[in-house]
Amino acid sequence: MQSGQPKTLLRALAGEALSLPPWWLMRQAGRYLPEYRRIRAKASDFVELCLTPALAAELTLQPIRRYGMDGAILFSDILMLPHALGQKLAFQEGGGPILQQIENSAEVARLDGSRIASALDPVFETVRQVKAALDQRTALIGFAGAPWTVATYMVEGGGSRDFRRVKSWAYRDPHGFDALIDLLAEGTIEYLAGQIEAGADLVQLFDSWAGILPEPAFERWVIGPTRQIVAVLKRRFSNCPVIGFPRGAGVLHERYLRETGVDGIGIDTAVPPGYANQSLQPHGTVQGNLDPVMLIAGGTALEDAVRRLRRTLGHGPYIFNLGHGVLPETPPENVHALARLMAEAADT
Ligand code: CP3
Repeated sequence: MQSGQPKTLLRALAGEALSLPPWWLMRQAGRYLPEYRRIRAKASDFVELCLTPALAAELTLQPIRRYGMDGAILFSDILMLPHALGQKLAFQEGGGPILQQIENSAEVARLDGSRIASALDPVFETVRQVKAALDQRTALIGFAGAPWTVATYMVEGGGSRDFRRVKSWAYRDPHGFDALIDLLAEGTIEYLAGQIEAGADLVQLFDSWAGILPEPAFERWVIGPTRQIVAVLKRRFSNCPVIGFPRGAGVLHERYLRETGVDGIGIDTAVPPGYANQSLQPHGTVQGNLDPVMLIAGGTALEDAVRRLRRTLGHGPYIFNLGHGVLPETPPENVHALARLMAEAADT
């Protein structure tokens, strides 16, 4: 246990159960905040915004100034890695990302892993600037997409309803698809190592589409590369915890936690907290899983849901978070109400 550690997020990830659990919110920076929208409106494009350290650092700090979360998550995007590998990336106004599709091994061979460090250097500079501005109590969270989730966007050319392209390639030509996953695993290690060297206190791997795969494919493309990334990071940085977020993994959460080596596991809204308490907390720190729509609803529904979660999970190692990102329609005052609830002693 890290005695004297002022960052409660790191204490929770070291296995401590805290009477006031640390909290932060996935997508805590973004369109629900008027101060975000003002900066976003001035920027010509979203990728450019992520690569402009002064602005990205400001966006990282905006929610911390308002609400004082225990963790500040770097402002960037999981798709900055494909961008750094040379894949064309654009964000439609108010819509999703669009990427030039990758469909076979020949196209994977055209991607260039040697550009990562230089292309992503502005992100590392953002981390340095945020680090210099944060107080001792607030942990700086670095992140990347996990290889499977990043691959879905690269192969589908953006978001997808049924993931037909990426799954058919993976099932038809698993060895060829491995080449893309391997390239992404190596790139993710380099990307996260750069963030940690620049000052990130912990990192989170977002595997937003982990839950759409049958078990053998989940083992191969979710557990396998995650285990590899965690092992290399642990060898290089013994003090940097990793949180994995295998969204939608259902009954495979326990195997993910036990087999990948992550210190903490993010659980989506559909995971029963009682299950997380019994089957996950004995093996690691649990993070989650308030329904993001509760933050839109607010009022007593929000209060009851937060208290119930803290009662069920707060006796073990626990980080309060949502089950997915903050939605753009969220009233900022409901996040203030949440911040007040998080400062209240638990009602056991
Ligand atoms: O959490 C934070 O506040 C830090 C920044 C962050 C962003 N994206 C900024 C962003 C993080 C951690 C992400 C992760 C991310 N990005 C994921 C994993 C989490 C998840 O939601 O499942 C994924 C799948 C992406 C890819 C992505 N980026 C999509 C699908 C979209 C468009 C849809 C949407 O939610 O807006 C983005 C754009 C994006 N990333 C925005 C922000 C603030 C909105 C851009 C804008 O203002 O127009």
